[in-house]
Amino acid sequence: MFFHKKVPEAAAGVADFGYLPSDACYLDAACQTLRPQCVIDAEHEYYTSFNACGGRVKYRWGEIVDAKVLEARKRILAYAGKSAREYAVVFTLNTSYGINLVLHQLPEEYRRIVTSDIEHNSVFLPSMTWAKKRNAERIVLKRTADGSLPAVSAHLKNSVVLVNSMSNIDGRKLRNMRELADAAHNAGGILLVDAAQGFAHDPERLRETDFDVAFGSGHKIYGPSIGFFVIRRSLLERMNPFFIGGGTVSDVEENEFTLLRSDDEPHAPLEVGLQNWGGIIGLSTALEWMKQRHDLRERTEACSKQLFDGLRALPRVHLLNESPSSICTFHTDGIDAHRLALFLSQQNIMCRSGYFCCHSYLKHQRGLPPLVRVSVSYSTTPDDITRFLGALKKILSAF
Ligand SMILES: Cc1ncc(COP(=O)(O)O)c(C=O)c1O
Repeated sequence: MFFHKKVPEAAAGVADFGYLPSDACYLDAACQTLRPQCVIDAEHEYYTSFNACGGRVKYRWGEIVDAKVLEARKRILAYAGKSAREYAVVFTLNTSYGINLVLHQLPEEYRRIVTSDIEHNSVFLPSMTWAKKRNAERIVLKRTADGSLPAVSAHLKNSVVLVNSMSNIDGRKLRNMRELADAAHNAGGILLVDAAQGFAHDPERLRETDFDVAFGSGHKIYGPSIGFFVIRRSLLERMNPFFIGGGTVSDVEENEFTLLRSDDEPHAPLEVGLQNWGGIIGLSTALEWMKQRHDLRERTEACSKQLFDGLRALPRVHLLNESPSSICTFHTDGIDAHRLALFLSQQNIMCRSGYFCCHSYLKHQRGLPPLVRVSVSYSTTPDDITRFLGALKKILSAF
């Protein structure tokens, strides 16, 4: 119906990241995955072939954009395992932005916020500001070693539960997410899930969970830099949007306005101004690409295991992970994490050092020094892991 470059059915991802220099060893997928060529092409195609605004224009290019944006919303809902009858998709800048946007526009009835000790600052900080602003109680629960949140009904009464479904420190997953959603609902609360990592590595659990909102970032699932969230329509309808502007209203008089509330465009009150149309289209392509990469999980898990086993076997390496994960974090005896990351970078091995926006847990609760984080995705090869482990061993032997 409209121009559409097909997602290539590439053999084992070779064509997907063909632009990557042969000596580049990219191990920072928890921050941003590399983008497959077809995602880059899709975004490029928007700018060069139908560079129009969505949702407003009557000319042909705009119709193409509208159709593609609708398709993107459908793909996100399908990926999250939710129906358009019950849920809506809203586009934002990133996960952090989405969390702030939703949290501060929630109905007034929620009097408490429950979060956990291993949250990203993008959850931790908004939960603080929300509690302060509403004069509400804030509870920080300790996640168990298996990633579950041990919340009881006294915690959940009329509460907003805001937690990640997968940690960006050690990949721990929210194993009791489904039960948590049910318990929160039974107590008059809601479950907001920071699925920035979970959308990439644990989508099945999101699909089987009756969450109220799940937040994601396109850049962590092979898409462009863009955010989105999947929100229960009945919650969205009860929200009090005050962060408003173009596209959010159905009528405006000199001193009054009427919010746009429509069954066809439930997202409208939360999508302020023109959107990142090229990014939305690229994200849609990324989801289609993921669907077609049947070996995505297998490849990522193989590299994760190789990485975990290799790090565990190295003397003087203190690994935080208790089990293999696409995200492994460690510190070493003898060399500071930032220096280590710099030495690795000299060999074009790219990984992270620091506290990964989890200062409260890593620095203050655990009293740890800065750490190194290595994270893998579909573009990672067993050779990358071998190269990283070899380089690490060599650097450590020099100290
Ligand atoms: C678990 C988790 N939550 C939230 C975020 C914030 O995501 P963004 O920077 O896309 O807003 C990240 C980013 O690394 C993350 O890993």
